[in-house]
Amino acid sequence: MATNGNTTNNHKFDPNFTAAVIAATGPKASPRIRKVVGSLIQHLHDFLRENEVTVEEWLAGVDLINQAGRISDDKRNEGQLLCDVLGIESLVDEITYKVATDAPDEPTATAILGPFWRKDAPRRNMGDTIVFEIDNGDNTLMSGTVTDFVTGKPIEGAELDVWHTAPNGLYEQQDPNQPDMNLRGRFTTGKDGKYHFYCLRPTSYPIPDDGPSGKLLQLLDRHPMRPAHIHFILSAPGYKPLVTQIFDRRDKYITNDSVFAVKDSLIVDFEPFKGDPKADFKLDYDFRLASYEAAEKDGANGATPMTSSA
Ligand SMILES: [Fe+2]
Repeated sequence: MATNGNTTNNHKFDPNFTAAVIAATGPKASPRIRKVVGSLIQHLHDFLRENEVTVEEWLAGVDLINQAGRISDDKRNEGQLLCDVLGIESLVDEITYKVATDAPDEPTATAILGPFWRKDAPRRNMGDTIVFEIDNGDNTLMSGTVTDFVTGKPIEGAELDVWHTAPNGLYEQQDPNQPDMNLRGRFTTGKDGKYHFYCLRPTSYPIPDDGPSGKLLQLLDRHPMRPAHIHFILSAPGYKPLVTQIFDRRDKYITNDSVFAVKDSLIVDFEPFKGDPKADFKLDYDFRLASYEAAEKDGANGATPMTSSA
């Protein structure tokens, strides 16, 4: 007997039900809404039939979503975290930003934004530190150049928005003992496209696991750890914004990220560094951005400038 639920179960249930629900969409629905929500209904109904989901199981799912809403506020985004542990944000990131290019080089790979970015991090001067009131971290001098991935030319006026956790594994908004906006900053490149600033060699940390995402991980027999990483958003006039993370090669979770964000090209080596009293490690990393023109040519989604501030 076939084990595929669609084959096995379809005969048990009203064969016209899903089509009727999809057909209820009114004429004023936009084509995109009609397509995406129609497809969502179809897949969800197939999923329910295939697994013969019971009322009790469905209510447990509803409860999980409601709990995620209740635990979320301006400092905690549990809905996004739930998506992350299910690999949804990483997949949507790939679908949206992948540039399949014929150019000899590729733009820097993207990685998920994650739920801890904060808008309007302080603008800092090139060469400043983002580390305040932390004396047990591995101070690092990070530097590199922001270039156009097609021409290789440096990009002037590129903004690099950076954020990472403290050695205790907490972002500043999770930790009342850190100053506001600690370990965050925005730097803008000059004519040479170069940047440098002081940060910490990052620390692996558990995603918050005291809510629904933690419960889901527990049910799936999975750990909550993320390999040590630093987050970035790079933006420059005429260029597609780049949301990414870089990962410390020596982290024990590098091949086992709880939110599936690691890509080979984003793995870096922090080198021990002598001669600078402000840094124990050095990290060089260049970012290659795609112009809107190049991204469009290579058929990337999201290749046109964003119209909202979201
Ligand atoms: Fe993170």
